[in-house]
Amino acid sequence: MVKSDLHNPEVSDNDVMPKHVAIIMDGNGRWAQQKGKLRTFGHKAGVDAVRASVRYARTNGIQSLTLFAFSSENWNRPEEEVGVLMDLFSLVLNSEVKRMKKNGVRLKVIGDTSKFDDKLVAKIEKAEALTAENSDLVLNIAANYGGRWDIVNACKSIVADVSDKTISPHEITEELFSKHVSTEGLPELDLLIRTGGEHRISNFLLWQCAYAELYFSQTLWPDFDEAEFDKATACFTSRQRRFGLTGEQVTNESQD
Ligand code: IPE
Ligand code: IPE
Ligand code: MG
Repeated sequence: MVKSDLHNPEVSDNDVMPKHVAIIMDGNGRWAQQKGKLRTFGHKAGVDAVRASVRYARTNGIQSLTLFAFSSENWNRPEEEVGVLMDLFSLVLNSEVKRMKKNGVRLKVIGDTSKFDDKLVAKIEKAEALTAENSDLVLNIAANYGGRWDIVNACKSIVADVSDKTISPHEITEELFSKHVSTEGLPELDLLIRTGGEHRISNFLLWQCAYAELYFSQTLWPDFDEAEFDKATACFTSRQRRFGLTGEQVTNESQD
């Protein structure tokens, strides 16, 4: 059992499903290596786990699922591995977009897509446009994403609005800032899951993590199925979210 699985059900005031879940899908390489295979075999197997997590989110009333697929730091991996990851991204866009459209899933890619080749960018735009009317689940794929990039990007966009006098500096608030990061318009991040046993954020949703519940699983990403996702949400619902208040205040508030 990982540390985050330990919780006290007696202080549970939070019996609702998370509205917004993000996952750091880690452990593909080790999963493959444990089987004596190349790391890229693990990335391919990871696609099935992506499908399972989307299905879980869709059928359990989660409104938004944000998956970390490729970080801004992952470009530093061996060229061949980066190539396989890009090809896989493109293949999955082709094979899944119709299913997403049919299943009410709206796809969004968050991250600096300007670094991708033109063909991939066109494919991303097409998939986003095709699913734009869907609203059951927003699926954000974080690709060439970095939390610091997201914050800097928001700053640039706010500075541009100040320069052209759309807003004045005193109007810059946390709420306004949230409208300029890549998760704009989505519910606050409730739950951040990381598979693969590491206890770090790896430059994922830094702004958005402020009050997210963190859940770390030893399971390597290709083995993360619906039962594993269920363990994470059960752990979430058993926790008391205090947002700076005392436990008693939260208990009294939830009884009102
Ligand atoms: C996560 O799995 C997938 C990406 C980062 C693209 P890893 O490839 O990091 O797998 P491990 O952590 O080396 O096992
Ligand atoms: C984080 O995993 C990025 C993704 C899951 C896409 P990494 O494997 O790149 O993270 P580190 O290097 O262990 O921090
Ligand atoms: Mg890793």
